[in-house]
Amino acid sequence: MIPKECKRLAEVDFPIAVVSKHAAREKSIRHGHPSTLHLWWARRPLASCRAVLLGLLWPDPCDPLCPAEFKAEARRRLREVGGCNPGTTDEELGKALLRFIADFANWDNAAHRTYLEVSRALVKAAHLPADGGAYEPPLVVDPFAGGGSIPLEALRLGCEAFASDLNPVACLILKVMLEDIPRHGPKLAEELRRVGAEIKKQAEKELADLYPRDPDGATPIAYLWARTVRCEAPACGAEIPLVRSFWLCKKANRKRALRHRVVRSPGGSADPPRVEFEVFEPKSEKEVPGGTVSRAKATCVCCGAVLPPERVRAQLAPQRGGADVVFDAKGRRTGGARLLAVVTLKPGETGRNYRLPGEHDYAAVREAQARVAKILEEWECHGRQGLCPVPDESTPTGGGSGAGRAFSVQKYGMLQWGDLFTARQKVALRTLARAAHDRPHTGDDAIRTTTAMVVGRCADYGSAIVSWAQSGEFVRSTFGRQALPIVWDFAEAVPWSDSSGSLDGAIDWTARVVEAGPGWRSGQLQAADATDHPLPDEAAHLWFTDPPYYDAVPYADLSDFFFVWFKRALPGHPLLRDPYDPTNPLTPKTREAVQDETKNDDGRAKDRGWFEETMAKAFAEGRRVLHEDGVGSVVFAHKTTEGWEALLSGMIRGGWTIIGSWPIATERPGRLRSQESAALATSVHLICRPRPDDAPVGDWADVLRELPKRVGDWMERLQSEGVRGADLVFACIGPALEIFSRFSKVETAEGREVKLDEYLEKVWEVVGRSALAQVLGTTEARARNGAAGAVEEDARLTALFLWTLQSTNGEVAGGTSDEGEDEERADDEEDDDEEGASRGKAKGFTLVFDVVRRFAQPLGIELPRWEKRIIETKKGVVRLLPVAERAKQLFGEDGAQAVAARLEQEAADGPASLQGMLFPEMETAPKVRGRGARGRGKRSGAGVSDESLAAAREATTLDRVHAAMLLQAGGRTSALRALVAAEQERGPDFLRLANALSALYPKGSEEKRLLDAMLLAVPR
Ligand SMILES: C[S@@+](CC[C@H](N)C(=O)[O-])C[C@H]1O[C@@H](n2cnc3c(N)ncnc32)[C@H](O)[C@@H]1O
Ligand SMILES: [Zn+2]
Repeated sequence: MIPKECKRLAEVDFPIAVVSKHAAREKSIRHGHPSTLHLWWARRPLASCRAVLLGLLWPDPCDPLCPAEFKAEARRRLREVGGCNPGTTDEELGKALLRFIADFANWDNAAHRTYLEVSRALVKAAHLPADGGAYEPPLVVDPFAGGGSIPLEALRLGCEAFASDLNPVACLILKVMLEDIPRHGPKLAEELRRVGAEIKKQAEKELADLYPRDPDGATPIAYLWARTVRCEAPACGAEIPLVRSFWLCKKANRKRALRHRVVRSPGGSADPPRVEFEVFEPKSEKEVPGGTVSRAKATCVCCGAVLPPERVRAQLAPQRGGADVVFDAKGRRTGGARLLAVVTLKPGETGRNYRLPGEHDYAAVREAQARVAKILEEWECHGRQGLCPVPDESTPTGGGSGAGRAFSVQKYGMLQWGDLFTARQKVALRTLARAAHDRPHTGDDAIRTTTAMVVGRCADYGSAIVSWAQSGEFVRSTFGRQALPIVWDFAEAVPWSDSSGSLDGAIDWTARVVEAGPGWRSGQLQAADATDHPLPDEAAHLWFTDPPYYDAVPYADLSDFFFVWFKRALPGHPLLRDPYDPTNPLTPKTREAVQDETKNDDGRAKDRGWFEETMAKAFAEGRRVLHEDGVGSVVFAHKTTEGWEALLSGMIRGGWTIIGSWPIATERPGRLRSQESAALATSVHLICRPRPDDAPVGDWADVLRELPKRVGDWMERLQSEGVRGADLVFACIGPALEIFSRFSKVETAEGREVKLDEYLEKVWEVVGRSALAQVLGTTEARARNGAAGAVEEDARLTALFLWTLQSTNGEVAGGTSDEGEDEERADDEEDDDEEGASRGKAKGFTLVFDVVRRFAQPLGIELPRWEKRIIETKKGVVRLLPVAERAKQLFGEDGAQAVAARLEQEAADGPASLQGMLFPEMETAPKVRGRGARGRGKRSGAGVSDESLAAAREATTLDRVHAAMLLQAGGRTSALRALVAAEQERGPDFLRLANALSALYPKGSEEKRLLDAMLLAVPR
């Protein structure tokens, strides 16, 4: 037994860099990986869970209280493992244990016998009862278990695991993972393949006429559709197919796209013009017509009129989203979805073929619609017994600024979950769901629940909001991100093809996970609310959890997408219900811990305060079920300080002390999105202990004294492990909180209690200052405005901005993705709503406003002063203006060339000075003042006086560096040389700043290229 006072390994050290490398790589491991059993959003990598668990389960051998048996066993067993020589001292043993943890994080070693045996033996050695009693494996509890990464890894390490989640879909996944797979082993996979083949045979027979072959023997593998609206321009009325891109295939040598022509009716006819398509082979991007829809605005191909988003929505709403075709009584298509093209495979030919749709394609759709109508009619006739055969449950209302922003489907009239599927998709999924539950009952429902996973996967690839990947030629899945965006031109996969989205594929993916298991014993699972935990007091040895990330993922609403099909595949299953509200046809929402002010709990909006309280309750429950000498760990990631504050305040209120924190890269680096905006690559793993009830009161002055050193040392350590930017900022929360949370409360000398938010403000300040000290030097870090020898506010803001933007890449640059899917999606994904317009398109680097503000304020940087000059704030996002966008501001209408000419001229007569040449278009001409005379003083509040605006217009060091970069861009080498020479004469600031910025601008950015080229021009 590890004594309570003995430190665990993860309380003192952790192999951040290596575990990060393995964790990030894990996302690209596909077949057979437990995460591919079924989709669950934002799963934690198994690598980081395994590594942190070992660090929590093992004691630190350097601790004087470390059990001798553990050390002896560790020395003996580690010799069996290559590269983990335990040496002779306790320090060496500690290092060897950390190396073991790091290597075991590698997915290739996860099922390796030696690693499994050694890790389990050492867990046992650490937890053998001191009195020689029988060994009971430590119990690991995760009350927000989701897809089950944490309990699964606990079981792998020989622990007991108790997993719970509020969500029924999560619970079903957990059941298969933690109970069915370990209990039945590979036999379950065999059975799944057998049952799957039967289901396929049966379904294919029932549905054959809905997926007809082509007369020439070709087999369709996907149908490419467009929703349509009518042009509202007077005298037009043409149908507008809503198409984002007319590309069909972007593969080199096989490029295909659609082009269209307008067919006008002969004079006198009242018929509106029509659009006809043709498949062609484009020679270049230019030949492919532009899309007809962008951010919900549609452009008529026939007359060029633009239909605003409200009208597009107003027309799609009565069509319930418009994924179905509208036929007249004679069976002719009159509106609704329009087939753009059909992707087929031809016998004896390689590669996919694209053809225009024919009458038989529409006939099959008509048949599918008739089938749905008949199924519903029968259900009605039988008095609506049981569930409606197609999902009639409501879709999420969405909206607001919290988690609900992920949903816009209702705006387009998709009010029921069934509206997210075409008629044919509904028939197909219903057939599969029925086939799954019609299996003869055996005692255990393992095969039925495992088959339900297959149905879920088919739904994921078989909705009308999936798109066609033109580069990879496959059907994407519904959940490329944690949202349900509308897809204008969607793809409908054929479930019998052997392409993506097929039933065979779904069976195979699922079976492979079952086969690759079970390296683990079976665990316990229960549907439960984390704020009201089912376990008795002090039952757990470890409390390790990954709670909801504030407003990031609307789990419950998202999960309804699968829930409605699971209910139909497993009617009456005890896990598939809301235990708190039997009348709720969907997953439980009221108790879900998420920040989403459009939802409420007992009349109270789920705002920040509610989230904090809920977290506090869950943490208090954790503390209650944890054994007195137990340890906890909490995984968290959020890109706003607000999200962090809500979590931390919940933790502290829940009675925990934070002991340490390890940022672990959990996302693949180099994703397109992450390069321009600070996307977090790491999740922070906080290590914590129950705070003793008699914890002392802390002294504010002492706390403040300790903070900078702790943060400084920590930043150094993390940077040496490759952690950068925003990841580094949030990773500093651990040591900072360690100082604060060990006290029952912290008070000032006057006896005033200091609240967490006040402390966190200090923390952000210290982190910002330390960052500035690193990139610009200590003068800037200490400086208030106007301090002698410091570069100005705008340079500090820019440096801080770029520093925060740096990304943690670990050593995994590039990754080894075998899908390329996400990359492509990020590339051409576009938001459906204007709401999304602030993202993506504008050039420049962006950060969340909240983060910029937290840093800037305490460092005396007034953001409004720099608005439009070096930053631009819109909808909560701050954009650093690219240098190119500053050209007009700096040089005026005449531009760089005119300024360059003047500089060259001046240089001929002596040192040239930019001062006075910049900002020519200013009304109050700036006086050229010396540096010492800048004294802007500190202004408080957001208002900026006229005077300060004028002062802000003086050319600063940053302005001059930017001007030089622009001269470089304009190819004015001699002007640039003159400028640099003059600046060198003036003092060191110009070059100091230029060098600092060169180190900060992201590699490959235009800014960095210009700066580096400019610096080459500096005479040495
Ligand atoms: C970040 S996820 C956990 C992910 C998991 N670690 C994995 O790797 O898949 C958070 C989970 O908390 C669950 N949850 C939200 N509110 C809850 C509550 N009140 N009680 C229990 N679980 C809740 C959500 O359903 C979600 O699965
Ligand atoms: Zn028109």
